[in-house]
Amino acid sequence: MVKKVTAKKTVAKKANTKPKQKEVETTEHEWDGIKEYNNPLPRWWLLTFYACIIYAIGYAIYYPSIPNVKSLSGWTQRGQLVEDQQKAEKAQKVFNDKIHAMTAQQIIDDDSIRNYAIEGGKAAFALNCSQCHGSGAGGAKGFPSLLDDEWLWGGKLEDILTTIKHGIRSPLDEDTRIGNMLAFGDDEMLEKDEIKNVIQYVMVQSKQIKPTEGSEEGATIFAENCAACHGEQGQGMHETGAPNLFNAIWLYGGDKSTLAETLAHGRKGEMPAFAKRLDEDTIKKLAVYVYSLSGGEK
Ligand code: HEC
Ligand code: HEC
Repeated sequence: MVKKVTAKKTVAKKANTKPKQKEVETTEHEWDGIKEYNNPLPRWWLLTFYACIIYAIGYAIYYPSIPNVKSLSGWTQRGQLVEDQQKAEKAQKVFNDKIHAMTAQQIIDDDSIRNYAIEGGKAAFALNCSQCHGSGAGGAKGFPSLLDDEWLWGGKLEDILTTIKHGIRSPLDEDTRIGNMLAFGDDEMLEKDEIKNVIQYVMVQSKQIKPTEGSEEGATIFAENCAACHGEQGQGMHETGAPNLFNAIWLYGGDKSTLAETLAHGRKGEMPAFAKRLDEDTIKKLAVYVYSLSGGEK
C-alpha cells in the first residue's frame, strides 16, 4: 500500500517540473498563416557534415581525383588493370603454353585442356565472329548456323580450321574456298520456264509442296544443271560448298520467292580469312569451340 502512494507522488512532481516550451524565433516567412521556425541545425548533424568535408579533402589528396596530378598513394585505375591483367596472364600461361604445343585434335581429346580452349574460343568468337554468325552462333539469312550438323564446307575439325584460316570467297586469301551458285537467270543459262520447274522440283523434294507437272520436268533440269554441285540426291557437296537442297535447313531461304532470287542472280556468301588477323592458338581455340557447338563431323 505504502509503496503505491509514493509512486503516485513522484509522477505528480515530474509533471510540475516540466520546463515551459521556449519561444522559438521564426524566419518571419509566413504562408497562409503558417510560420517557419528558425531552429539551429542539430549539433550531431553539423559535426557529421564537417567530418565529411575533412574526409573528402583527405580522399582527394590520397586517391587520384585531379586530372594529371599524381595522388599521394600513387594508385590508379589503369595501374590496377595492368596488375590484374598480369596476374590473369600468369595464371593462364600454363594453359596457353599447353595449347601452343598441341594440335586442335589433341586439345579436343584432352580432358584437362578442352574446356579451357572452348571458353577461350567462345570469347574470341564473341569478338570476331558474332557480328555475322550471331552471338550464339545461330546464324541468320546468308550466314550459316554453326549449331546444326549441316555443313557447307565440312564439319571435320580440319575443315573448320581451313574455313577460319582462309575464309570463303575471301578476295584477300589465295587459299580461300571458292565455288559459286551460278546466276542461271541473269546469265541466261536457263529459260524462265525451266527455272520455274526446277524450283518446283526443289520444293517437292524438300517436302514443301506435292508433285506437280512442272516438277517432273524440273527433275531432268536438276540432274543436268544442278547435280554436279549439289549432288544427285540434292544432298550438297563440301567440295563445292553447295548446300543440301532437299531438307528443311536453308541458308538463304526455301520459299518460292527466295528460291527465284537465288536462281536468278546466284549467290556467293563471303567470309573473311582470319589467318593474318588472329594468331594460330586463337584459331585453334575457335575451331575447338565451333566443333564443340555441333559435335562437328568425324
Ligand atoms: C563478315 C561476316 C563473317 C564473319 C566475321 C565470320 N563469318 Fe563465318 N561465314 C560467313 C559466311 C557468309 C559464311 C558462309 C559462306 C558461304 O555461303 O559459303 C560463313 C561460313 C562459316 C563456316 C562454314 C560453315 C559451313 O557450313 O561449312 C564456319 C565454320 C565459320 N563461318 C566460322 C566462323 C568463325 C569461327 C568466325 C570468326 C573467327 C567467322 N566465321 C566469322 C560470314 C562471316
Ligand atoms: C557450280 C556449282 C553450282 C551449280 C551448278 C548450282 N549450284 Fe546452287 N549453289 C552452289 C553454291 C556454292 C551455293 C551456296 C552459295 C553460298 O553459300 O553463298 C548454292 C546455293 C544454292 C541455293 C541456296 C540454298 C539455301 O540454302 O538457301 C539454291 C536454292 C540452289 N543453290 C539451287 C540450285 C539449283 C536449282 C541449281 C541448278 C539449276 C544449282 N543450284 C546449281 C553451287 C552451285
